[in-house]
Amino acid sequence: MRTLIADGTVVTASDTFAADVWIEGGKIVALTHPSQRAALGQAERTIDAAGRYVIPGGIDAHTHMELPFGGTTSSDDFGSGTVAAAHGGTTTIIDFAIQAKGSSMRAGLDAWHAKAEGKAAIDYGFHMIMTEANPGTLEEMTGLVREGVTSFKMFMAYPGVFLVDDQQIFRAMLRAGELGALITMHAEIGLPIDVLVQRALAAGHTAPVYHALTRPEVAEATGTERAIALAEMAKVPVYMVHLSAQRALERVMEARDRGLPAYAETCPQYLFCSEDDLRGDPGDEWKGAGYVCTPPLRPAHHHDHLWRGLRNYDLQVVATDHCPFCMKDQKELGRGDFSKIPNGMPGVETRLYLLWEGVRDGRISMNRFVEITSTAPAKIFGLHGKKGAVAVGADADLVVWDPQREKVLGKDTLHMRVDYSPFEGRKVVGAPAAVLSRGEVIVEDDRWVGTHTRGRGQFLRRGTFGL
Ligand code: URP
Ligand code: ZN
Ligand code: ZN
Repeated sequence: MRTLIADGTVVTASDTFAADVWIEGGKIVALTHPSQRAALGQAERTIDAAGRYVIPGGIDAHTHMELPFGGTTSSDDFGSGTVAAAHGGTTTIIDFAIQAKGSSMRAGLDAWHAKAEGKAAIDYGFHMIMTEANPGTLEEMTGLVREGVTSFKMFMAYPGVFLVDDQQIFRAMLRAGELGALITMHAEIGLPIDVLVQRALAAGHTAPVYHALTRPEVAEATGTERAIALAEMAKVPVYMVHLSAQRALERVMEARDRGLPAYAETCPQYLFCSEDDLRGDPGDEWKGAGYVCTPPLRPAHHHDHLWRGLRNYDLQVVATDHCPFCMKDQKELGRGDFSKIPNGMPGVETRLYLLWEGVRDGRISMNRFVEITSTAPAKIFGLHGKKGAVAVGADADLVVWDPQREKVLGKDTLHMRVDYSPFEGRKVVGAPAAVLSRGEVIVEDDRWVGTHTRGRGQFLRRGTFGL
């Protein structure tokens, strides 16, 4: 079947131009000027993109579907979460498989394949969370990379759960360097944070805002600096996940200025929400539980620094860290003890809507929007050529983006399986008119129109670090 996206304006990470996009066999087969249309013959299906932009489908490089965390499990699974992602213009996710402490990465990867297979509605890849770097797991990295799991996340936070010490991080970095794999870091220093948490609770401070007050900016800045130092010693690239604050960004900037291959992502919650949201409403401090994520939301003055970082190429990617928990029964676990509130916020569906606000108010260009939401994660995480591009030969994962379309964000207008929205009532302008995954129109006018949802997504064997 041949599909034509006609009369649109193609926006890539580098260029903006009028073009027809021709699709066959799930791939982009030609980009032509509309004046040449007659020469190319007929299409079975034509999508009118006049007055609209044609952009590569979003790649969300940081999601947690069905993640066991804090005594519960994130509320979206690979079915509901990927359908929601598609409604918001995201056509690929990279989720985090977990090596359970004392177990193998193989077992963790098998468990994540079982969660995703037969459920995912869009294509997906996996990173591997490495909770131990011992001779066995270091050896296992080879097999995982061969299977297309080419990035590993390590934690300086969450003692007793995920935290690994510097020696393990360093060993994993050296191994990653041999394999062309990428180490990604949760760079908050968790041991002193835990002391602050214990002291706050002992003093009777139990409200959600104490999540932020016990995880200060300096803990993230120091972790970031340390992770970069270890990567420099190992002579490998390093990628900071969910960077939230000015001082951590400055550590990345310094490293980049010295020519080091240090990369970082931020997330919409750090650009649009703040510590004030964690304080809740007057008389309802518990509302702040919906904004508990880690690293925590920072005071609003950080926003400008992060936007500047995106504009100036010091931050490369905006991912979501989508990790939803319902207020009822899940966030509720931490009423009376902020440290028991499951960490995470919903976001896989709202990333493009929100970041387009940055285009509308001139903080980033359209091309930079495409780069940070799709092309850069494709390059960094070994998907380039296949995903993240409007180019001949690439998968036809495309969004026809209508810059005039309005939407009010809210739990009832979005598709994520969660009982609140951090952006309830926020009106955005600019939304997908159509979303294509490997050439199939799966979302049109905010409705799922794909032939089937469950299991149409394919596992992506990613290449090695692509920059
Ligand atoms: O709050 C968060 N970020 N939850 C998910 C776990 C992580 O550290 O990414
Ligand atoms: Zn993390
Ligand atoms: Zn995460």
